Amino acid sequence: MSFFAHQICRRFSTSAVRNVVIKHVTVLGGGQMGAGIAQVAASAGHSVTLVDTNEDLLTKAVRGIEGSLKRVVKKKFADKPEAGDAFVRGVLQNVSTSTDAESVVQHSDLVVEAIVENLKIKRAVFGQLDKAAPARTIFASNTSSLPISEIAGATNRPDRFGGLHFFNPVPMMRLVEVIGTSATSQETFDSLLDFSKALGKTPVSCKDSPGFIVNRLLVPYLMEAIRLHERGHGSKEDIDIAMKLGAGYPMGPFELGDYVGLDTLKFVMDGWSEMDPENRLFAPSELLNKLVAEGKLGKKAGEGFYKYK
Ligand code: CAA
Ligand code: NAD
Repeated sequence: MSFFAHQICRRFSTSAVRNVVIKHVTVLGGGQMGAGIAQVAASAGHSVTLVDTNEDLLTKAVRGIEGSLKRVVKKKFADKPEAGDAFVRGVLQNVSTSTDAESVVQHSDLVVEAIVENLKIKRAVFGQLDKAAPARTIFASNTSSLPISEIAGATNRPDRFGGLHFFNPVPMMRLVEVIGTSATSQETFDSLLDFSKALGKTPVSCKDSPGFIVNRLLVPYLMEAIRLHERGHGSKEDIDIAMKLGAGYPMGPFELGDYVGLDTLKFVMDGWSEMDPENRLFAPSELLNKLVAEGKLGKKAGEGFYKYK
């Protein structure tokens, strides 16, 4: 069945099948999303190992987690700063780091992948880890836009593979899209739902269709805002103000594009455009391509549509 074809939406289970108990979680990729996922999983008491390609990235990721936890406790433990400090220490103790994914997954119940939005690379990584992880380990991708079934196809565990799509910033955004393919077992799907709930998130069940629910609506909107600006119909600043004050969005589309990462936005559009070239919603933007080529990837790079300190 093609990625664009219709699939039967998976229902929240009422079966009595015992779901997998998830204790240890491997998070692949310590960028914006991986660090956030590691943070919320560790905050919920899971033992988490964050994996990236080098120690510097991992040090930066753990520093980011600590900074974000401090922001969380400032509100949650406003009257009890000592309890807040203890919470931060406790969560950080649940987080370890590694550059050796193959060893880490050997004792993992769940592997959540949050690396670059590239099908070939995701397939290569999962294909390799499939050989190292025990048969019981569930694999999940946090992809924004790629077919879960195609990523899962690189492994011999399509029944133990699903999508867990978190939102940025992970500690603040309450939604998780849980994606089952036609091969995902009910036990795996339910375990992913349970895991999302254990993290304090609200899961929704999604089909394995491009962009699932949120990005299928949000990404064309972000691209349309860029095209509006490219046509000279509004400055970035005015479009952002308009959508915040006129439509009640917490961020304008240019602020949000920078926040998500312009490289990720471009990867999503390029992938969809390749799959459905006639669809005008997926047409490329010269401005977006130029910014990415210049390394202006948004907030994480210090500059995108806007400049950041
Ligand atoms: N960690 C912990 N706490 C955080 C945080 C973080 N990363 N970011 C914000 N907060 C909390 C803090 O308590 C913060 O207060 P302090 O600054 O005093 O620490 C408080 O939120 C308020 O934050 P801000 O003043 O920075 O601004 P805000 O009120 O606008 O809230 C926001 C920030 C929650 C990010 C809000 O602007 C928002 O909801 N923006 C839209 C985000 C969005 O749409 N995300 C989805 C993107 S699409 C996606 O993720 C899918 C994909 O595949 C691309
Ligand atoms: P990012 O660029 O901030 O981080 C990606 C991290 O993955 C980097 O630290 C990189 O070094 C690491 N990495 C690359 N290859 C790796 C490998 N083989 N093993 C381990 N680590 C590796 O990207 P991000 O914004 O965190 O996005 C990650 C994934 O999450 C993408 O698939 C993206 O589409 C998806 N996503 C992004 C957002 C968002 O708003 N940025 C939201 C939801 C989902």
